[in-house]
This record gives sequence, structure tokens and C-alpha cells, in this order.
Amino acid sequence: VQPIKIIYGTETDTAMGLAEELSDALQAAGLSSQALDMQDVDVPALAEDGIVLVVTSTYGNGDPPFNARALLESLRTAEGAALAKTKFAVFGLGDSTYPKFCQCGRDFDAQFELLGAQRILPRVDADGDPCDLFEAWQKEIVGVLAN
Ligand SMILES: Cc1cc2nc3c(=O)[nH]c(=O)nc-3n(C[C@H](O)[C@H](O)[C@H](O)COP(=O)(O)O)c2cc1C
Repeated sequence: VQPIKIIYGTETDTAMGLAEELSDALQAAGLSSQALDMQDVDVPALAEDGIVLVVTSTYGNGDPPFNARALLESLRTAEGAALAKTKFAVFGLGDSTYPKFCQCGRDFDAQFELLGAQRILPRVDADGDPCDLFEAWQKEIVGVLAN
């Protein structure tokens, strides 16, 4: 069984901290998991039979954070049902004062679906401080995956 991959896109490390917290929570529930910087991940790694949890912020005008750019681009150019064996969920960090609120989370969520991956929980778009929504999402994730 593959460890659960928690991949983070970040510029000021909020998403990284949350990804590491989620990895700890999954391990505390007896599951195998790893938090990974998106710049160290490629599409073949995501296509392995397993679970991918995406935690990402948004920058610029709805753009991916720097470390997420290459992976999002690879997902946009991937073929057909490249992620048919993948299960996934997305947590987006953002700020609704920007016109393209949580756009990068939306883009990952849409690309995974387009490539045939199966969504295990609805996407969350967190506005401002993500802590409370993340706690709730983390509980749901652990509940779904621990069973
Ligand atoms: C220069 C700048 C641009 C941003 N652009 C957006 C945006 O287009 N949409 C959005 O929802 N949030 C935007 N944000 C908010 C960040 O996504 C948010 O602060 C997030 O929590 C940062 O997470 P990180 O520390 O993991 O990078 C922007 C923030 C900054 C500083």
C-alpha cells in the first residue's frame, strides 16, 4: 500500500504547516502518510494507485504558488485518464478580497477530476485564517481514510 501523499503548494509556508499537521494526524490514526513539496512531485507519482491530498494557496491573480507551477502545468498537459487509479481531495487557502478566490485549489480539483481521479471529499475554499476549516476537514479525512 502506498503512503497517503499530502502535497502542498505554498509561498509563505501556511499550507506546508497544515500538510505536516495532517500527515501527523493520519499517522496518529495508524495510517502511513508523507507531506511533500509539490516541486518534488510529478504526474507519474500521483498516478500510482493511492490517495493524494492537495493543500495549496493562491498567488498573483489566481496563479499557483511558485512551487506548484510545474506540477499544475504537467497536470494540464497530461493525457486522458492519467489519474484513473488515484483518489483525492483538495483544501485551498486564499482570501476572498482577491477576485480569483482560491483559484489554484479550484484548478487542482478540476484537473484531478478531468484526469479520471475519484474525489473522496468536496473541495474546501478557506477564506483568510484556515485553521478552523482545516481542523474540520482533517477530521473528515481521517474519518474517511481510517475506515
Ligand atoms: C501577493 C499575494 C497575492 C495573492 N493572491 C491571491 C489570489 O489571487 N486569490 C486568493 O484566493 N488568495 C490570494 N492570496 C492569499 C493567499 O493565498 C493566502 O494568504 C494564503 O493563506 C497563503 O498561504 P501560504 O502561506 O501557504 O502561501 C494572495 C496573497 C498574496 C500575499
